[in-house]
Amino acid sequence: MNIGLLGGAFDPFHKGHAALIKGAVKSGIVDAVIVIPSGRSPFKSNRSMSAAPYRYYMTKKAVEEIFRNENVFISDIEFMYSGTSFTLTTLKEIMKPSYIRTFLKANGIKAKEADGSHRYFWITGSDVLPTFEKWHEPLKILDLCTLLVASRPGDGVDVKEQIVRLEKVLGIRPDIEVFKIEGVEAASSDIRKSNDLDQVPDCVKEFIQTHNLYSEDEPLKYVSEKASDDFADFSIVLYRYLGEKRLLHTLNVGLLSAYYASIYDKGLCDKALIAGELHDCAKELDESLQEQMARENSGDLFTEKKLLHSPAGAVMAQREFGITDPEILDAITYHTTGRGNMSLLDKIVYLADKLEPSRTYADLTEERELAVKDIDAALALCVKSVKKKFDSRGQKIHPLTIDFMEELGV
Ligand SMILES: [Fe+2]
Ligand SMILES: [Fe+2]
Repeated sequence: MNIGLLGGAFDPFHKGHAALIKGAVKSGIVDAVIVIPSGRSPFKSNRSMSAAPYRYYMTKKAVEEIFRNENVFISDIEFMYSGTSFTLTTLKEIMKPSYIRTFLKANGIKAKEADGSHRYFWITGSDVLPTFEKWHEPLKILDLCTLLVASRPGDGVDVKEQIVRLEKVLGIRPDIEVFKIEGVEAASSDIRKSNDLDQVPDCVKEFIQTHNLYSEDEPLKYVSEKASDDFADFSIVLYRYLGEKRLLHTLNVGLLSAYYASIYDKGLCDKALIAGELHDCAKELDESLQEQMARENSGDLFTEKKLLHSPAGAVMAQREFGITDPEILDAITYHTTGRGNMSLLDKIVYLADKLEPSRTYADLTEERELAVKDIDAALALCVKSVKKKFDSRGQKIHPLTIDFMEELGV
């Protein structure tokens, strides 16, 4: 098969990306296109980029919706190896016969075709040609694939001229094929800055709004470079442990916690980001493992199934993510029950867990408004509805939650 590969940050996926894929498919040069959202970019700071799972699931949604009946697929290969994502590394990983065969079959390609030999094309805009020699290991890239270049009307790049230029600079004649696309003007950086969502497909718009991405009050601006790097790295590790909905929830809680910390105590922003991100990290582990880890952390304090993931999460945060800060570990341990004498960090994570933007279990407008003005009042409001739910179901409330409620006057 002729396989086109389209890598990128997709932050966000926009109509220009859709036009690029459409053009590649229509060109007839490739039989399939694999879209590969990047994990850790070697060129961008993590503070200026959305965490990889946001970009991956947003792109997945767009690819599945726009190219439903075509051979356009999405790959999560960049979550599968550690380190930064260079084009060459990604190419080598995806071309491994064991990976590509399984991938194509899982996406409905017949075994006969999937098991055959493949030729690879790296899809890109013509605007990269004038600086292609500056890419990491350009000769090795050209050794593995053909560049499949999209030419837009009026893009100002003379491909033939560029091939001659690159031959001089690189010492070999690059293998380049060209296809034409319509001139859809869109740039991710402009969309992030202006939040002008006319340039993204409707399904992407909905995703951005659900998770409150690219908001003016971007929480990562309040945290240190180290914390934003950890947040990005941990999000890639969490991909292996959590399904889509829960993973996006935990990232939302991390960012909202950092935002709340920026209001109540800026010194807590880093801890809030990480505690929020990891608060549910153990929730999809095997129940017996959760039980064992919960006991290790807190003895018999948490025995109910629904509560196990909180103390187990603190153990996992230490083992898998190297967290040693007792304040972060406590915020994770008590995020479901609360406790008496809650620290500000405990309160922030508890509240962000209830109010992160994708939560739709109730109308939370009042709680969200209060949360940025008076944290205890917002907590009291949330805890009141928790109490109501427990009372209506005739369920027993955990003693730690009773202490928490009493202190809030609920
Ligand atoms: Fe939880
Ligand atoms: Fe949660």
